[in-house]
Amino acid sequence: MLDAMWKRRSVRVFEDEALSVEDVKMIHELIEEAKNHKGPFGHQVDFFLKDGTKFDGQKMGTYGTVKHPQMIVGGFTEEEFDGFVDYGYLLEELILKITKLEVGSLWVEGHFDPSNLGVEDVEGKIVPALCPIGYPKGKELKKRQFHINPKKEQRKDMRELAFVGKKLKPMNESDLYHDHIRAVQIAPSGSNKQPWRFVVMNNEIHVFLERTKGYGASLPKDIQAIDIGIALRHLTFSLEEHKVFYEVMRKEAPVDLENTSYVCTVKIEK
Ligand SMILES: Cc1cc2nc3c(=O)[nH]c(=O)nc-3n(C[C@H](O)[C@H](O)[C@H](O)COP(=O)(O)O)c2cc1C
Repeated sequence: MLDAMWKRRSVRVFEDEALSVEDVKMIHELIEEAKNHKGPFGHQVDFFLKDGTKFDGQKMGTYGTVKHPQMIVGGFTEEEFDGFVDYGYLLEELILKITKLEVGSLWVEGHFDPSNLGVEDVEGKIVPALCPIGYPKGKELKKRQFHINPKKEQRKDMRELAFVGKKLKPMNESDLYHDHIRAVQIAPSGSNKQPWRFVVMNNEIHVFLERTKGYGASLPKDIQAIDIGIALRHLTFSLEEHKVFYEVMRKEAPVDLENTSYVCTVKIEK
């Protein structure tokens, strides 16, 4: 999955060309599989795949328009923090698998009326975000040049994202788990706010949320909870790829990280 994480980027202009029958079949299979998966906080998502062509040129999310979306992937989940984290986790898992098929995607968050999407309302659940998909316009999804110039990719420096030990030393390349947190650095997030923070203590990676001031209030949904789920999936996929065993758990906040709230701990098995 690391290759898919490096390859993925937001695609806002798709080819005006339907997805191939084989790709649609594969995506349907991935969706059926994903419906059985659980996020780290135990939620499942009722995923769906719908026609996206009628949303051409429309503002689907809170900003920007999408050109020639071919299909829409989305799902229903509980409207609560943990439900949204699990939604981000499971939908990013699906998106990375779809990226492997050379199919491009975009996360969008906003007000979605299920009937506009051609899906039936599910009582007590909502659609937190959607992903229009299609073949990226013009060029292939190229491997990013991120490793050469992180600033070009407009990502926060690792020293702002991750800290080591009780004294919260900013993380550098030689620190344990640096490469796994790097896999989070390239993840998508609403308005690219990257609200995830990490504190590494021994064999534990503690995950925190630094909410962007004044950001959430104007939005219809808790977008930064979704971001945390996306971040967790990047982290756990990286661990899995390196055959590192882990468990996601909740405990007492192990340390006070300014302006953040504690979300969970990824405990690495030694
Ligand atoms: C939960 C979520 C919601 C997003 N909503 C929108 C949106 O409404 N409109 C949009 O154009 N991009 C949206 N994005 C895409 C982000 O702007 C994008 O991920 C970020 O700028 C980083 O760029 P990259 O995905 O190319 O790495 C969203 C991303 C996430 C994770």
